[in-house]
Amino acid sequence: MLNKKSIEDIEVTGKKVLVRCDFNVPLQDGVITSDKRIVEALPTIKYLLEKGAKVILCSHMGKPHGIFTEGFSLNKKEKAKLAELPEADQAAAKAEMIKKAISDDSKKFTLKPVADRLNEYLDGKVVFASDIIGDDAKAKIAALENGKAVLLENVRFDERETKNDPQLSKALADLCDIYVNDAFGSAHRAHCSTAGVTEFVDTCVCGFLIQKEITIMGGALADPKRPFVAILGGAKVSDKIGVIQNLIDKVDTLIIGGGMAYTFFRAFGNNVGTSICEEDKLDLARELVEKAREKGVNFLLPVDNIIGREYSEDTTFMEIYSDSIPDGWMGLDIGEKTQELFAKTIKGAGTVVWNGPMGVSEWDNFAGGTIAVATAVADSGAVSIIGGGDSAAAVEKLGFADKMTHISTGGGASLEFLEGKELPGIACLENK
Ligand code: 3PG
Repeated sequence: MLNKKSIEDIEVTGKKVLVRCDFNVPLQDGVITSDKRIVEALPTIKYLLEKGAKVILCSHMGKPHGIFTEGFSLNKKEKAKLAELPEADQAAAKAEMIKKAISDDSKKFTLKPVADRLNEYLDGKVVFASDIIGDDAKAKIAALENGKAVLLENVRFDERETKNDPQLSKALADLCDIYVNDAFGSAHRAHCSTAGVTEFVDTCVCGFLIQKEITIMGGALADPKRPFVAILGGAKVSDKIGVIQNLIDKVDTLIIGGGMAYTFFRAFGNNVGTSICEEDKLDLARELVEKAREKGVNFLLPVDNIIGREYSEDTTFMEIYSDSIPDGWMGLDIGEKTQELFAKTIKGAGTVVWNGPMGVSEWDNFAGGTIAVATAVADSGAVSIIGGGDSAAAVEKLGFADKMTHISTGGGASLEFLEGKELPGIACLENK
């Protein structure tokens, strides 16, 4: 298992410590709607402040244009729109798009609301810099007292960040003496602030959140309390191939729900109506079932489903066995018998890893399967690990968060971790 040096293994007092967090939190009209990622970053920040470090916090937020970079690129949609215009009009339209991107993104993707929220938790110890490596950041860092922090503006406002450009990595490194990565949610990205910067800093360690994520998830994968049950949902088999392949070697039972179940039904000759189905993944689905059989893994698919007339929140719906889905209907959730079957299996588990909803869980009529699974996991007494994204959101919405052993702060990152991949933002940190 990964054994990385952490902030507890180094001397930080009086040092300038650059901490990469994942403050990519959901916002609505500038208001943070869930601050889980901020709260999860607090143990590392508090520890460093208490030890008298000068803390430099940085993060990305969303996918903005690189508005701090001269001549920044427009996104694909904007470029396509430009290409449709007569050539003579393109320059003016482009200038207008750039102006709009600067005006919109500087409001929509600023980390200022995060600085305000941090200050509520940290008694006003954080100042906000309006740039990343510019004059404001440098002046505020130079003025930092021990035990105080500065939060830099969104690192993705510099277009070089996502390109892992060594110039920006070096400029970030020049701000600090020590680099700490605590952004588990971004650890699957090889960007300047998550990986590139470590090329230019001598001491690079992890914070408590990354340590917790890799210890709990890594521990469950390496030495699970058995029976080990994995529950995988979501729309597409193609999104979960890596996870299924990695987990099939480790689990006792693999439960498949959500949209991807229909590709498996189709692979074994069942009609799936208008359900989501990846025709080019039918062979793969058969191979995965065969591999599970060879390994003695109990492979569970839904036995019944809630099907609807169309993909809409208030469509007509009914319950039906998996081998009887009629033409013109689509599967939108698992049925009641499946809920019972899955719940019974989960109840007997020693370890449960869950990633992906069982149906269209954001619509009440089709949330029943996800709620039933969340309830079964919460009541199971098993070591329970919830991969981020929709399953984590469902567990939190239902108020079951406290009943789970661990809810990962990573969406894509936790998926890649469960796939057994090496995450660049962790690989670049010092080993113990
Ligand atoms: C996430 O929300 O999954 C992380 O913050 C990473 O964001 P990204 O997909 O924009 O890199």
